[in-house]
Amino acid sequence: MTAIRSVVLGCGSYLPQQILTNAQLADRIDTSDEWIVQRTGIRQRHIAAEGEFTSHLAINAAQAALANAGVDAQSIDLIVLATSTPDNTFPATAVAVQNGLGINHGAAFDLQAVCSGFVFALATADNFLRSGSFKRALVIGAETFSRILDWNDRGTCVLFGDGAGAIVLEAQEQPGKSSDRGVLTTHLRSDGRHKSKLYVDGGPSSTQTVGHLRMEGREVFKHAVGMITDVIVDAFSATGVTAEDVDWFIPHQANKRIIDASAHKLHIAPPKVVLTVDLHGNTSAASIPLAISVAVADGRVKKGDLVLLEAMGGGFTWGSALLRW
Ligand code: ACO
Repeated sequence: MTAIRSVVLGCGSYLPQQILTNAQLADRIDTSDEWIVQRTGIRQRHIAAEGEFTSHLAINAAQAALANAGVDAQSIDLIVLATSTPDNTFPATAVAVQNGLGINHGAAFDLQAVCSGFVFALATADNFLRSGSFKRALVIGAETFSRILDWNDRGTCVLFGDGAGAIVLEAQEQPGKSSDRGVLTTHLRSDGRHKSKLYVDGGPSSTQTVGHLRMEGREVFKHAVGMITDVIVDAFSATGVTAEDVDWFIPHQANKRIIDASAHKLHIAPPKVVLTVDLHGNTSAASIPLAISVAVADGRVKKGDLVLLEAMGGGFTWGSALLRW
């Protein structure tokens, strides 16, 4: 028996040039490098330049992913772009990316699940590819969170950064075993009862303004580890995979303490955890593909490795994906 699997052909990322360190933040607001590192593990973040939009970051990441995959942009028939910081209210930033890549066939759309956006976008593209609707997809996470931060709110502005990451996925006929390459399983969850714990206080329909990010940090922290581990246990149950089988755990990079606690609860050994939060901060939907690109570029993630992804964010939304690289 054979099955269609969504196989990763390549990945790429892009970070804006400007770096903002904790020390530079401490010059502007009442905070310190020590406080930020101890509570979050973040040491610096990248900030998009004036006139540099989410679509620009996404196009750069997509081009890097296409080059890494060794495929032409014209072979892409689906673009799913996860972002909470679109260039405009509409059209979708994905169509700006499509146009920037010179593609005018197939479909391109945005997906909004905040920090879980990349896992939701991956699951969406995987379902389209496995159903036969499309053949080759770009799955992108791209954000300019610097544009929705209240730079006077020290409880939030120290946490986030800008960036983009992308992967190229292709539908391939496989024997369908867990040793075959491709996405093995995805699990998505949402619970809108928590929507006011992490939100942006503006929008076209409510205030006609863009608004700023607001967060009850402790409340997010309280729910994060339980939600993350639950949805990973779902991935293990669906596939028969155990924590020991996982080669690389590439979580959403929100906070080192959340990542460490989740890995510990799941018995995933620390050397298997890919961490980029120190250098990138929390780049929301971009954080997982950025971390993937780092771990592939430095030779850690290799063909055939079992890779576990997870994310949790505003909504709340949360999800996991298990794939054979
Ligand atoms: N620098 C110095 N002091 C600060 C800062 C700062 N940047 N921010 C807050 N403080 C102060 C507070 O004012 C408070 O002072 P007080 O005791 O005098 O009132 C004190 O530090 C403790 O504040 P808390 O908010 O209770 O600090 P906490 O230990 O919870 O750490 C943090 C805050 C880091 C936000 C933590 O709650 C957290 O990590 N939450 C998870 C949130 C997260 O990661 N969100 C990302 C988006 S969601 C996602 O991606 C999963």
